[in-house]
Amino acid sequence: STIMVLNGPNLNLLGQREPQTYGHETLADVEAMCQEEAAKHGLKVDFRQSNHEGALVDAIHEAGQLIKAGKMLGVVFNPGAYTHTSIALHDAIKGAEVPVVEVHISNVHAREAFRHHSFISPCAVGIVIGMGVQGYVLGMQGLIKKLS
Ligand code: DQA
Repeated sequence: STIMVLNGPNLNLLGQREPQTYGHETLADVEAMCQEEAAKHGLKVDFRQSNHEGALVDAIHEAGQLIKAGKMLGVVFNPGAYTHTSIALHDAIKGAEVPVVEVHISNVHAREAFRHHSFISPCAVGIVIGMGVQGYVLGMQGLIKKLS
């Protein structure tokens, strides 16, 4: 089976973008970490990033179809700034019945007030916040433990 690891806007800039907040690892490094973790469990990773809200909605729908076909376990999702704005992503997760673990590299609760609310959390099976890029691996482990 497969786990989708989905990344929202600006995460393509990981490693160069505000490294004091997000660290020096790139998104390619994160993908390698996720692939390594998946291999330990005999799983595959479908690793994606988009800066476009609708493309993320489409990816969630696609995950829903793959889950129903028994080909996917769930999604580890860092929605970036859409976390704090996107009712469309909230509705997509609910509508497609996708088990999602929400991941944030930084501790959003220690940052600006506009990062304290998440439209994703109410429909997430779990949340990993502030653990750096290791959060993706922790999210995968949580998803695997919960769903298999
Ligand atoms: C983030 C936190 C969001 O507030 C921010 O907009 C991001 C990254 C994180 O991983 O810490 O783009 O999701």
